[in-house]
Amino acid sequence: MSRLVVVSNRVAPVEEGKASAGGLSVAVEEAFAKTEGLWFGWNGKIENNGPIRVTVEEGKRFARATMPLSRKDYNDFYVGYANSTLWPLLHYRLNVMQYSRAHAEGYRRVNELYANHLAPLLRPDDLIWVHDYHLFVLGRELKRMGLENRMGFFLHTPFPPPDMLRACSEHEEIVRALFDYDVIGFQTENDARNLLEYVRRLSGGTVRGNRATAFGKTARVQAFPISIRPDEMAEAAEKAMRSNRARQLVRSLGGKQLIIGVERLDYSKGLDKRFASYERLLTNYPENRGSVTLMQIAPPSRGDVQSYREIRQVLEGMAGHINGQFAEFDWVPIRYLNKSYRRDVLAGFFRIAQVGYVTPLRDGMNLVAKEYVASQDPVDPGVLVLSEFAGAAAELDGAVIVNPFDEEGMMEGLQTALRMPLGDRIERYQSMMAVLRKNDLQNWRRRFLEALRGA
Ligand code: F6P
Repeated sequence: MSRLVVVSNRVAPVEEGKASAGGLSVAVEEAFAKTEGLWFGWNGKIENNGPIRVTVEEGKRFARATMPLSRKDYNDFYVGYANSTLWPLLHYRLNVMQYSRAHAEGYRRVNELYANHLAPLLRPDDLIWVHDYHLFVLGRELKRMGLENRMGFFLHTPFPPPDMLRACSEHEEIVRALFDYDVIGFQTENDARNLLEYVRRLSGGTVRGNRATAFGKTARVQAFPISIRPDEMAEAAEKAMRSNRARQLVRSLGGKQLIIGVERLDYSKGLDKRFASYERLLTNYPENRGSVTLMQIAPPSRGDVQSYREIRQVLEGMAGHINGQFAEFDWVPIRYLNKSYRRDVLAGFFRIAQVGYVTPLRDGMNLVAKEYVASQDPVDPGVLVLSEFAGAAAELDGAVIVNPFDEEGMMEGLQTALRMPLGDRIERYQSMMAVLRKNDLQNWRRRFLEALRGA
């Protein structure tokens, strides 16, 4: 069987076999579940001295080949184009998007740099699976070097409609480069449709079923919704309930209901509206004062990007304001934690919480929504309150679906979830678990790799 080579911007320093956070690392670990290979990308370090060297570390199932970035490449490519231009664009946030030609140039430069350092490690029959928005044009660079390997691309974020994509001057270059991959995978049908719409309307291309032809090249364009291993998560949650941390959390709640939110501190996650809707809940439904707690776990990320520093300040102000307004000597309304926890610890926290509150303004998939559901106690499950703009909403129809721009609607959603009778909760939980078991993480990998092998 041919070797699998996974390329992503960040190669997480995960310990094999242990739980690790983040959609991308979940995906990559799964990618190597049945195939041996190599994971290539940035080691997360910035180094300015001397020529860049790739370090290869052998692991049990796959090797990691990583390299540092120079300060200039980090600024232009990672902070600049990837996270100040593409990230907001892909999350429909043109008001936050910043653009500079120097950053676009940096993006091309780093994709070329990765291609140059990856090429010598490749064998002719390797299958190459490229992940996420940092590497839209990597396939083009590998082709320019004469490589003929099969290459697939999977986008973890949303993909916006053509008129929004056009706000970025490189829109045509990006779509053209996507067609250097044999398979272009998205999280949802909606994202795939947006690319196909671009192909039809703006590139004069054609679409037949899931095969699209544009710029003289044909690729398979399809949705592959990423998922989790629901039964493993359920087991982890059950086990976690016997841990000290879970016991401490239960004790500290003293019988109060818990609403939980977990995400990277990112403006796309809608945390400010989430806090505001919770404030409304305490104002308009005073019976919740002293009997409900919101625990928001939000580890800081991308701190070199201005918009991330701003949202952090906003949230600190809001949490302080809400706590100052409502707290009593024996109750704090919001527990706001800027740190991360391992997935097995979170599984216990999810099971303890009566409500999983997942309200991104826009999200590729959102695995926390799926993990929350899978962590529930089947005989007394909690309720998922989910944004209609998370990719997961296309599958999790048993959630209380809310519009994350409508604070009053979110407040109502919370109140419905907190008061939901047991029978309804069980029914919703069972229908969502059935969906999760049908399309689990293994299925996601199998479907993508089959598409790539058959391309
Ligand atoms: O949400 C997209 C994503 O790639 C996640 O899968 C991953 O956990 C996160 O971003 C990592 O972001 P960064 O590399 O910027 O820290």
